[in-house]
Amino acid sequence: MAEALVQLENVDKSFHKKKEELNVLRNINLEITQGETVAVLGKSGCGKSTLLNMIGGFHFPTNGRVLFDGEAVSGPSRRAIMLFQHYALLPWKSVLANVELALEPEGLSASERRSRAEYYLDLVGLGKSLQQFPSELSGGMQQRVAIARALAIRPEMILMDEPFAALDTFTRYYLQDELLKIQEREATNIVLVTHDIDEAVYLADRVFIMDAAPGRIRRTVPIELPKPRDRSHRDFQYYRKLILDEFNFSREEESIEYNI
Ligand SMILES: Nc1ncnc2c1ncn2[C@@H]1O[C@H](COP(=O)(O)OP(=O)(O)O)[C@@H](O)[C@H]1O
Ligand SMILES: [Mg+2]
Repeated sequence: MAEALVQLENVDKSFHKKKEELNVLRNINLEITQGETVAVLGKSGCGKSTLLNMIGGFHFPTNGRVLFDGEAVSGPSRRAIMLFQHYALLPWKSVLANVELALEPEGLSASERRSRAEYYLDLVGLGKSLQQFPSELSGGMQQRVAIARALAIRPEMILMDEPFAALDTFTRYYLQDELLKIQEREATNIVLVTHDIDEAVYLADRVFIMDAAPGRIRRTVPIELPKPRDRSHRDFQYYRKLILDEFNFSREEESIEYNI
């Protein structure tokens, strides 16, 4: 079996709110293998971002361990870069300067920095927009700048927190395709947090389906379809339905709990 790049072992996470303890995640066990794209799928509030933030080193488990490449995660690292829904670009800097800025800690010369930034902006189709400012770009283009910025660091893993949720369907589909091509070319591991079943089935090798309150992994579904996938194919529909049924089932369980 291929090596695990990320391991979560018996992870619980609680937050303290005033005097109350909020159990956000309970007993999470998962492994992400080198080369995999995984999706973490669940309803809003079930703890997806918290889970991702623990892999990224922004939060730490209350119990259990989070390992990256065999070592306990002790803080953010340039080996695993976070990509947010709201791009987080500096509005007063050009597209090119936004990416160059992210490369400053890399110890490159100014010209190396520039050529690497240009390379990745070209890769996401923004080679002609280098001197534009974020406010001059559509949401889809701004997210492409953020993707180029993450890729330019050449991380082993990109942690994506609902990266396309703010975009319209067509732009979302387009960017999902772009991401597949880039992933194939750069062989970057991706952890994609989403509440969109379609997106999970389209992009992921495995889908972790989460339950809420406290967040748990309800089921892991390997998507055994070649990429690129055809959303209209019956095999695609099969996985969509399987996952949807899983959520409906969890809703029924919730209502049973209410009725008691
Ligand atoms: N820093 C924090 N302090 C207190 N509660 C938090 C914090 N971050 C998240 N939570 C709570 O944890 C739960 C899960 O949040 P989150 O991981 O953002 O869910 P999701 O990303 O699935 O929508 C929510 O109830 C949220 O209010
Ligand atoms: Mg979230």
